[in-house]
Amino acid sequence: MPDHLQAVGITKRYGGVYALKGASFALRAGEVHALVGENGAGKSTLARILAGSARADSGAILLHGAPVEITTPLDAQRLGIGIIYQELDLFGNLTAGENTVIGNLHFPEGRLVSFRRMEEFCRPFLRQVGLDCDIRQTAAALSIGQRQLLAIARALSMDARILLMDEPTSSLFDDAAERLFGLIAALKQRGVSIVYVSHKMDEIFRVADRATVLRDGETIGTVDVAGTSVNELIRMMVGRELQIDSIKTARAARPPSGEIVLAAEKLTTAKLRQVSFELRRGEVLGIAGLVGSGRSELGAALFGLHRITGGTLRLAGELRAPRSPRDAMASGVGLLPEDRRLEGLMMRMSVLENATLAVLPRLSGLGFIHRRRERASLAPVARQLALNCPSPAAPVGQLSGGNQQKVLLARWLLLNPTVLFLDDPTRGIDIGAKQDIYRLIDELAAAGKAIILVSSELPELLRCCHRILVLNEGCVTAHFDAAEATQEKIMSAATNAGVRA
Ligand SMILES: Nc1ncnc2c1ncn2[C@@H]1O[C@H](COP(=O)(O)OP(=O)(O)OP(=O)(O)O)[C@@H](O)[C@H]1O
Ligand SMILES: [Mg+2]
Repeated sequence: MPDHLQAVGITKRYGGVYALKGASFALRAGEVHALVGENGAGKSTLARILAGSARADSGAILLHGAPVEITTPLDAQRLGIGIIYQELDLFGNLTAGENTVIGNLHFPEGRLVSFRRMEEFCRPFLRQVGLDCDIRQTAAALSIGQRQLLAIARALSMDARILLMDEPTSSLFDDAAERLFGLIAALKQRGVSIVYVSHKMDEIFRVADRATVLRDGETIGTVDVAGTSVNELIRMMVGRELQIDSIKTARAARPPSGEIVLAAEKLTTAKLRQVSFELRRGEVLGIAGLVGSGRSELGAALFGLHRITGGTLRLAGELRAPRSPRDAMASGVGLLPEDRRLEGLMMRMSVLENATLAVLPRLSGLGFIHRRRERASLAPVARQLALNCPSPAAPVGQLSGGNQQKVLLARWLLLNPTVLFLDDPTRGIDIGAKQDIYRLIDELAAAGKAIILVSSELPELLRCCHRILVLNEGCVTAHFDAAEATQEKIMSAATNAGVRA
């Protein structure tokens, strides 16, 4: 039987950069096929070409052995190919319902129909993905995790036989990711084939039958997942052995004893209740908790984005609550937000402009910006982060997803704040670069910075933090020293409401 969908010798160039160099890949009917590789390897480009939102310069696409032309997303839809983009392509000002039906061949009425009709159409798919929302809400009003689920529901509603998923769990939390894995199994039962792009090895080994590795736009090989190991896949991805720190050897053990730079006392906001903690120079404080537990809310409060309604906040010994991000930055607080696209990056602006946005006042003199000084300041940070971009002048929107994250991180490293709140900093970052970021966090702490690290990956918290605070429905339910924390203890405090530290 011919392969279901085949990409043969696909090449795609953007200016002088080869995103794909003769990459090939074959999907069997009813399989889950992982597409893996480092940041910038070409995974999203290949997915976009198969979905008709980018065009290959050369190469062929075959469906059941016969060549097909896929030049627009509509072509792909007609051929039964659906996609969930890494950078979600929802319209923020349209409702959840409108986002689902717009351009959907299975809903020919378009979006100018009764709410009832739209609801009837959308509801089963929203239920399948476990998204419980009013379809009249705009996409912008949904949380990033909800938007991810909406994008999945929309792809399902197009009744695809081949579904391309580009890092679908990058903003889902454990419970929602679990549901997605269930959904993938059910789709597979119905004969749907899935291309699954992810940096998370545990997911790949769980859901995928086979995996194809891309490196620098070329196909390195395809393997049966059952017959391979994480190390083998990583070796194929990076082309060499990679040193992965084990949690035990790398974990920060020494309790830092620097001065207290931040003290929250019964901090209360719309979503936080009486949260108290102290943060010292040189310390990495982890924040664990489920979706909606208040982890990101804490960052928003410290950064002056959400109003503090009760309790006190001391920064460097002074009693003050930042009233705006500008105010927070002036007090030495930085925030890497969870949702980079909406809250952080200007996609049309250059890498350099995005990275230096927050330091502009410092770099500019006599009303203009010193481009040279700007470039000079970015270079070492870009090196530290192994930022892969054609030039500092390239628009950020042209970078691969993982490299976009690094630009935002670079911004905060340049700003050099005393307290840095990192909300899920390694989301979408490849396995090698993740290690770089862990070491960077170690270095920042050793240099006297105070860091608050939010992560949904518990091993990451255990690897990087001195102490871990667990939030549950806006309350602190546990507070562990690194030495005594375990995944089990953290999960139990994150899920058992009513346990108070
Ligand atoms: N629109 C574009 N213009 C210019 N270059 C681009 C564009 N899209 C992608 N590229 C480049 O093509 C290469 C491959 O990018 P791609 O997004 O496919 O990587 P990826 O494997 O999905 O990485 P990640 O894991 O970071 O998401 C990168 O070097 C990227 O900068
Ligand atoms: Mg990508």
